[in-house]
Amino acid sequence: MASSRVVSLGNLMNFETHSWDQKTKIFPPCYPLNPIVTTPRIPRDFDYFIELLNNSNESDVKKGLYIHVPFCNSICTFCCFYRVLKDQSLVKKYISALRSEIKLYAETNYIKSSIFDAVYFGGGTPTCISSEDLMEILSYCKENFKISNNAEITIEGNPSDFDDKKFGSFLENGVNRLSFGVQTFDTLMRQKVLGRRLAGEEVARVIRDVHELGFNNVDIDLMYDLPGQTIEDWRKDLQTAIDLEVESLSFYRLRIYQTSKLAEMIKSGEVPPQSNKHAEMYLLAIEMLRDAGYKQQSVDHFVLPSKEHLYSRIRLMPGETLALGPSPNGILGHYVYANVRSLEEYLAMISKGKFPIADGMRTSAADELRRAMMGQLKMLRVDVNEFQQRFKNPLDVFSTVLSELERRNLVLVNDREIKLTERGMLLIDDVLMAIASS
Ligand SMILES: C[S@@+](CC[C@H](N)C(=O)[O-])C[C@H]1O[C@@H](n2cnc3c(N)ncnc32)[C@H](O)[C@@H]1O
Ligand code: SF4
Repeated sequence: MASSRVVSLGNLMNFETHSWDQKTKIFPPCYPLNPIVTTPRIPRDFDYFIELLNNSNESDVKKGLYIHVPFCNSICTFCCFYRVLKDQSLVKKYISALRSEIKLYAETNYIKSSIFDAVYFGGGTPTCISSEDLMEILSYCKENFKISNNAEITIEGNPSDFDDKKFGSFLENGVNRLSFGVQTFDTLMRQKVLGRRLAGEEVARVIRDVHELGFNNVDIDLMYDLPGQTIEDWRKDLQTAIDLEVESLSFYRLRIYQTSKLAEMIKSGEVPPQSNKHAEMYLLAIEMLRDAGYKQQSVDHFVLPSKEHLYSRIRLMPGETLALGPSPNGILGHYVYANVRSLEEYLAMISKGKFPIADGMRTSAADELRRAMMGQLKMLRVDVNEFQQRFKNPLDVFSTVLSELERRNLVLVNDREIKLTERGMLLIDDVLMAIASS
């Protein structure tokens, strides 16, 4: 049974020094760029970027399209994403700027010859704006970009925005995947600690309703190591998700950001601090989800067989992403970039006809090798042959760092594959850091 094994693995983790609490700046999809650029600068290697866009694109690398919708109806106590409170006049300005950004890219040779296999509306909370506004953005993307007929199209949403007419219109317009921020089904935790409106049972109802409406690919994300959360509470959350038969599920350890409301609540004693049980919680999740028939797609993402999340795979493969809106990062050709973070700055740059890029850089061949290695390790396994066909033999290039990671029991290496161990999954930030500095 899950429980006995988890306890023993949990004990094993007690003497580990781990880096969950370090603010790592390593994010494989945009390595070596820092994913969050707070102070815009003149993007590096910008001439290369413009030259790239002017050229047509001959590559067969898979591509995704990301659109950041930076609005929320209310702000949760813990959230670290770029988002602002929804204001309808701002939404209108944002949509008009987004259309201009879409046009800027659509007129380049590189994007004209690109095909997108996955579209992802992230936030913020895309579902907090009207379905007319959201579907207008989607149809404008379809008019201006080549999006494959069977593309995966995901909308990220808050369950509190559910209404069947609104979500029905998503379905009619070809949206085939939903991703809900659930966090936990525990009503007290949701409302008193996290600042979420709906009760746990109401969230569960929404998941049943979207399944009934016809969505057959519903993802949720949960958070663990919440203040005061016990192992039993976490087990209940996982069991509820499994019982609801969600097609895919991500789970993240809560990170407390110093500037968040939740950090203040903990400091003042209003809510307890986090426990030291996150390793046990992580291992419990892996075990329960595997037992329930889910396949592990990456360190923190499980899917039912045949429901693999293409967009996330493209990000980690590594493929290319055209990222639009304020704050996201993307990669085209050998250029990684992050857009300006604030909505005001985004609107200002677009109004001057500029790409709203805060920072960017051209990656070297060595950067790309490391980026690919990190992405594939996050997806648990590197196939030596495949990697060698696209890049170089990873066993040669990374021999020193792999020996060290193997000695620490973070990876298992043989002639055919490099596999992340469970310890490696728990200490993924250490693994990524080691590859980045190799
Ligand atoms: C953009 S939100 C999901 C959609 C929607 N805005 C919502 O919250 O329902 C992205 C997810 O990132 C995770 N997240 C946000 N802040 C986090 C933090 N401080 N620590 C860990 N995960 C966090 C949460 O699981 C959250 O659901
Ligand atoms: S967690 Fe989601 S709903 Fe809450 S503030 Fe962040 S983006 Fe908005």
